[in-house]
Amino acid sequence: MKKLDIKLLHDDVKSYVDKEVVVAGWVKSCRGNGSFGFIDLNDGTSFKGVQIVFNKDKIKNFEIVEKLNTGSAIMCTGSVVLTPENKQPFEIQANSVTVISATDNEYPLQKKKHSLEFLREIAYLRPRTNLFNAVFRVRSELSFLLHEFFNKKGFVYVHTPIITSSDCEGGSELFRVTTQDIYDKEKKFDPKDELFGKKTYLTPTGQLEGEACAAAFGKIYTFGPTFRAENSNTTRHLNEFWHLEPEVSFMDLNGLMDLEEEMMKYIISGIIKKCPDEMAFFNNFIDKGLMDRLNNVIHSDFAHITYTEAIEILKKNNNNFAYKVEWGCDIQTEHERYLSEVIFKKPVFVTDYPKDIKAFYMKINDDGKTVRGCDLLFPGIGEVTGGSERETDYNKLKKIMDEKNLKEEDYWWYMNLRKFGSVEHSGFGLGFERILMYITGISNIRDVILFPRTPNNCEY
Ligand code: 4AD
Ligand code: MG
Repeated sequence: MKKLDIKLLHDDVKSYVDKEVVVAGWVKSCRGNGSFGFIDLNDGTSFKGVQIVFNKDKIKNFEIVEKLNTGSAIMCTGSVVLTPENKQPFEIQANSVTVISATDNEYPLQKKKHSLEFLREIAYLRPRTNLFNAVFRVRSELSFLLHEFFNKKGFVYVHTPIITSSDCEGGSELFRVTTQDIYDKEKKFDPKDELFGKKTYLTPTGQLEGEACAAAFGKIYTFGPTFRAENSNTTRHLNEFWHLEPEVSFMDLNGLMDLEEEMMKYIISGIIKKCPDEMAFFNNFIDKGLMDRLNNVIHSDFAHITYTEAIEILKKNNNNFAYKVEWGCDIQTEHERYLSEVIFKKPVFVTDYPKDIKAFYMKINDDGKTVRGCDLLFPGIGEVTGGSERETDYNKLKKIMDEKNLKEEDYWWYMNLRKFGSVEHSGFGLGFERILMYITGISNIRDVILFPRTPNNCEY
């Protein structure tokens, strides 16, 4: 007989009642009293497991099964029985239990509650806990929903390279990619000796290549890991994060912000629909206000404010900030959170930043001082997306690149896009882990990615 996914039992138990099925998975808990016992079994196909009842009269290896530890792998053949009077609506009455692999008492995930810090140290086991099972299933569904959203709208999914020779974001520090033995102190290095014949890095963004594709397909997105080498130990920065970046031709900044808002509402309502058990779990155990907050976002109109207006508001509260603001300064997380949590109490787009604090590719406004950029700030998180209308004029782009000391030889092809059928276009980058934090209520970015890459942390 074929192994049945436990999810199928939950989806449609009626089809299996009084039939014999085979399930296989890992023991969450096992207890027996000498004549019968219960196993809570999970196979990972669903957040919910299944209860197996085993009886001394029926199974040969009762004494062994009764002593199974948490984490042991078993296969069970048994009949599905409805139990409407119990907590779980059905159970499996075992005819046989095969022990595939038993754990001993050293298995680190015993039944008690473990701290998130402890679980980070055993990242290879934490997907087996209820919490991380829920987080990573939501992560999978969220990724699917993003693909679905853009696919339905006719966007082409392009795969942009991970190794690059240009630093698109300016401020972000980059990881070097080299085949040279950099620890050999005797050696002299020359970029010409590199495998690529020049200096190369892990890319912080797929945007530049994305723009080349938007000039062909009109609407594209790229979605993959990107890298930032900054040595910052915060709850919202990773050195390797997943980055979704759409780029759309014939779209201005307002069109871009509408697209972002529609996308956010689509994925949040999609997750609520597709992952009810996981979301109920987060709401009960992580953040009691989570579902209210998410529903509020789906039904609210996102706020819009210019950088200059935001600075006016923030200045009035300067006494309460560690970093005092004034026009021209970068907006820090504390300011982002004040705007979205205290002032607007919902997601807010901040637009038209000073050109000196933003990347070179953003379109310059007529005032010559600000750019058509927008950051989307979420309550509790801060910046979740960063985007802009792009500078399409060759000469204006050249001028700002000169100001920022960017070399033409590194960006010639990107600049050429402005010569060959250049059209108005815009794009943004979504920090996948940041929106996942918002949706799950998890407050540390290390707990929404399988094996986080942060300073001094690359064990796996
Ligand atoms: O604002 P950023 O740096 O923008 C770009 O990279 C543009 N090229 C995007 C574009 O227009 N195509 O990054 C975009 C988003 C941020 O809003 C944030 O959510 C996330 O990426 N992000 C990070 N997430 C986790 N850890 C980090 N170190 C991150 N840096 C940026
Ligand atoms: Mg940004």
